[in-house]
Amino acid sequence: MSFRTQPPAPARPNRCQLFGPGSRPELFAKMAASAADVINLDLEDSVAPGDKAAARANVIAASHEVDWGTKTLSVRINGLDTPWWVRDLVDLIEKGSERIDLIMIPKAGNARDLYAVDAVVTALEAQAGRRKRLGFEVIIESAQGITNVAEIAGASPRLQAMSLGAADFAASMGMQTTGIGGTQENYYMLREGSRYWADPWHWASAAIVAACRMHGVLPVDGPFGDFSDDEGFRAQARRAATLGMVGKWAIHPRQVALANEVFTPSEAAVAEAREILAAMEKARAEGQGATVYKGRLVDIASIRQAEVIVRQADLIGGR
Ligand code: COA
Ligand code: MG
Repeated sequence: MSFRTQPPAPARPNRCQLFGPGSRPELFAKMAASAADVINLDLEDSVAPGDKAAARANVIAASHEVDWGTKTLSVRINGLDTPWWVRDLVDLIEKGSERIDLIMIPKAGNARDLYAVDAVVTALEAQAGRRKRLGFEVIIESAQGITNVAEIAGASPRLQAMSLGAADFAASMGMQTTGIGGTQENYYMLREGSRYWADPWHWASAAIVAACRMHGVLPVDGPFGDFSDDEGFRAQARRAATLGMVGKWAIHPRQVALANEVFTPSEAAVAEAREILAAMEKARAEGQGATVYKGRLVDIASIRQAEVIVRQADLIGGR
């Protein structure tokens, strides 16, 4: 570990982020009643250009009128390459309720993008006399974004979470894909005539996790488009969880329970982690730095691994 220690990520559950278009206000109460930890009301790509103003007004009304309970409430603004994002911020901050927790910035490309939004938000918050400071979350979904992922993760003290946006990412990278996330038919290794499918999202996911962990930001896996494929969603989510991500988007309500299932440590995993901690406590009392648990080596690093699982379980249990 470097002299400067790794900062903790925000201590709130982020197992599932449920999205809904700002242009479909009839969905908002259903979203609020869902089991998702985070709600993302969208002004960007699920809203047609002609509906932008109406969607903005719907989201502002819903920030006042809908009971969002203990959920984290986030609004995805339009990209910095569009004519809409400044008006999104002005209206949300001048007219929206302080119930809004986060602004999601899509297609973040470099640290200056966050600096620009931060400057505008800071001025608007001061002018409106808002007491609650908005947090940010970003989507990494371009060649530029993944190239600059480390500087983006450290670009603003407001930044709480970062997601991988597979569809726009694939398009920006020129990847030959059509499905949103998950297994890609042509991404396989061949061994003795058998195909073995690898994960084309792996390196981008790992780069995002590293950048996030360095700066105390929550890494999140983005959308899985085929909402009739539960096992495909589970497989993608389990890979993301194994790499260190804390949650995944849901673009349909049936994906919420799947994400919660995968990103909530199982009772067996928590029990094993607690047993490892107990074994190490016993070893420590006996003056040992390493011991044997179920035939495997466990040492002081095992304490840190086990603590990740116990901390996550406590965070979720403490809601
Ligand atoms: N949040 C909460 N409830 C939702 C929902 C959402 N995002 N999407 C659909 N529902 C509700 C429907 O209203 C319906 O409710 P009902 O049983 O009371 O009638 C039920 O869930 C089943 O919906 P279904 O008919 O299967 O979906 P749909 O055809 O209405 O919509 C999508 C499908 C994919 C268009 C819609 O889910 C959607 O817009 N998802 C989010 C897209 C988005 O935000 N994208 C941006 C991020 S990638
Ligand atoms: Mg996108």
